[in-house]
Amino acid sequence: KKRIVSGVQPTGSVHLGNYLGAIKNWVSLQNTYDTLFFIVDLHAITLPYDAQKLSKATRDTAAIYLACGVDTSKASVFLQSHVRAHVELMWLLSCVTPVGWLNRMIQFKEKSRKAGDENVGVALLTYPVLMASDILLYQSDFVPVGEDQKQHLELTRELAERVNNFYGGRKWKKLGGRGGAIFKVPEPLIPPAGARVMSLTDGLSKMSKSAPSDQSRINLLDPKDVIANKIKRCKTDSFPGLEFDNPERPECNNLLSIYQLISGRTKEEVSQECQDMNWGSFKSLLTDALVDHLHPIQVRYEEIISDSAYLDRILADGAVKAADIADATLNNVYQAMGFLRK
Ligand code: TYM
Repeated sequence: KKRIVSGVQPTGSVHLGNYLGAIKNWVSLQNTYDTLFFIVDLHAITLPYDAQKLSKATRDTAAIYLACGVDTSKASVFLQSHVRAHVELMWLLSCVTPVGWLNRMIQFKEKSRKAGDENVGVALLTYPVLMASDILLYQSDFVPVGEDQKQHLELTRELAERVNNFYGGRKWKKLGGRGGAIFKVPEPLIPPAGARVMSLTDGLSKMSKSAPSDQSRINLLDPKDVIANKIKRCKTDSFPGLEFDNPERPECNNLLSIYQLISGRTKEEVSQECQDMNWGSFKSLLTDALVDHLHPIQVRYEEIISDSAYLDRILADGAVKAADIADATLNNVYQAMGFLRK
C-alpha cells in the first residue's frame, strides 16, 4: 500500500479551509492508503503562544480529526511531540539544508514581516525542515495539503534528493547499509477544489487561523447562530446574479465554491442553481448547507472530547505505530551519515 501522511497545527481553531483543503480529503484517502495523521504541536510554537491554549488546542484538533471521520481502525493519529524521531531527524536535515532555501519560503517572509524581528525565533525559519522530517520519516508517497503548503513540499522533495545524493547508494552500502535511496521523494496531493478557501471578509486573502478577525473564517466548532451571523455579514458585491471564476468577483467565487464542496454538488449544478439568485437567498442556502454539514461533526466532537481516556488511548496507540516506522528511517539516516550505532 502507498503511504500518506499529513497534519494540522494546533493553533487557534480548525477552520473550513483546513477542512476542505486537507482533513475532508484525508477521510476519503484512508480507505485506499496506509495513512498517518499527526497533530503538529511542535510547529505551533514558532510564534509567541500561550501554553494553556496549546494543550487545549492539541486535544481539540485530535478530537476534530476523529469527528470529521478519520477512522483509527485504518489511520494512525498521534502527536508530533510523542514521536521523538521528528526532532532528531530535523537536526540531521538542518545540517544539509542551505539557509538560502529557507529564506525563500513565502510563509516565512509573510509571518516574519508581520511578527517583527524581535518576535521572530530561529524556528520560524527552520520550520520547513521540521515539516520535511514529518514527511520523510514515514517514507511517504503522497501528502494531501492545501495550496499554501506547496512550496514546503517542494523543499521537502529537494531535501530528500539532496540527502539521497550525498549519503545514499554505494556510499551508504560501504557503511553497512542496504544502499539505494534513503528517503522516498514524496508528492503533494492538492485537491482540484478547496485547496485555497478564501477569507469571508476579503476574497483575495486566504482563510487563516491567525487572521485577527474571527469574522473572516468559519471554525468547524462554530455554533449555528455564529455561522449564520458570519455568512450574513460576509463581504459580497453588487453584480447581478452569481457566478464562478469572474476575477472581478473573488468573494462570489469563494462562497459558491464553499457551497459546492459542502453540499457535495458539482460546479455545474451550483452554477445552474445559483446563477439567478440574489445574495439574500444564496446566503440562507449556504448557511443551511454549512449548518447541516457541520452539525454531525460537532456532535461527534462533543462525545470524543468528553472522554479523555479514549482520546489518550488513541494518541498513545498512534504514537507507538508511528515510532516503529520513524525509528527505522532515523536509524538508516544515522548510519548513512556515518554515525556509530549503539
Ligand atoms: P496548517 O495547520 O496551517 O493547515 C493545515 C492544512 O490546512 C490547509 N489549509 C488550507 N486549505 C485550503 N484553504 C485554506 N484557506 C487553508 N488554510 C490551511 C493547509 O494547506 C494544510 O494542509 N505546515 C503545515 C502543517 C504540517 C504538515 C506537516 C502538513 C507540518 N508538518 C507534514 C503535512 C505534512 C501547516 O502549518 O498547516
